[in-house]
Amino acid sequence: MEIVIMPTPLEVDSTAADIVEGYVRRGATTLGLATGSSPIGTYRELARRHRVSGLDFSQAQAFLLDEYLGLPKSHSQSYYSVIRAEFVDHVNLDPERVFSPDGEAAIPDAEVERYDRSIAEAGGVDVQLLGIGTDGHIGFNEPGSALSSRTRVKTLTEQTRIDNARFFERPDDVPHHVLTQGLGTISDARHLVMIATGEGKADAIAAAVEGPLTAFCPASILQWHRHVTVVIDEAAAGRLK
Ligand code: F6R
Repeated sequence: MEIVIMPTPLEVDSTAADIVEGYVRRGATTLGLATGSSPIGTYRELARRHRVSGLDFSQAQAFLLDEYLGLPKSHSQSYYSVIRAEFVDHVNLDPERVFSPDGEAAIPDAEVERYDRSIAEAGGVDVQLLGIGTDGHIGFNEPGSALSSRTRVKTLTEQTRIDNARFFERPDDVPHHVLTQGLGTISDARHLVMIATGEGKADAIAAAVEGPLTAFCPASILQWHRHVTVVIDEAAAGRLK
């Protein structure tokens, strides 16, 4: 595992963008995209490189980590819409080649299997961007998630629904369930890039990188993966030994 500690969040963004750019420059590549605040600066930096120096995403495709169950793709808060607004619409990545679990699937259990199959049929993810929750979650894999889990339906905790209510008109509008790639699915990506900034993430980063490999810290799966880059600022690195 490579741990890159940068002085500022802006330098974290450009370091993570350098990694993604390396894959995009190869031509055909499959990106794994996370939502949440952690990768937003990286997405902005990649969009800037597209604008200023023509970084070409036309041969790339992408898979999302997770999606709300019950929201149509077109809903402004579906993760598909969020990733379009924050990234895809600012580069020349074909929206038709950006895939997410179908939040409106009639049979969610069949949809999660289809999603895992579609990632495998696409040849797998080359580089997966990840954020980390303060409790060590990745995707919607909360503490206690099986380390080998595949894409599946998860029930949101009341705390997560409260946390996410700010994005919806009414708190009751927050869906109760999500479809999320499992820890096993995420581990299948060939390169995992975790992005974290700020003191609030310092304990989670220390547990993920230096703590025991345990389902109680889902991000500790980074330790058994062959190719991981953790890109963090000094504040997020503050509890590393
Ligand atoms: C979102 C996701 C989540 C976030 C995590 C951190 O697709 O996978 O696991 O990465 O909740 O969120 P932020 O980056 O907002 O601190």
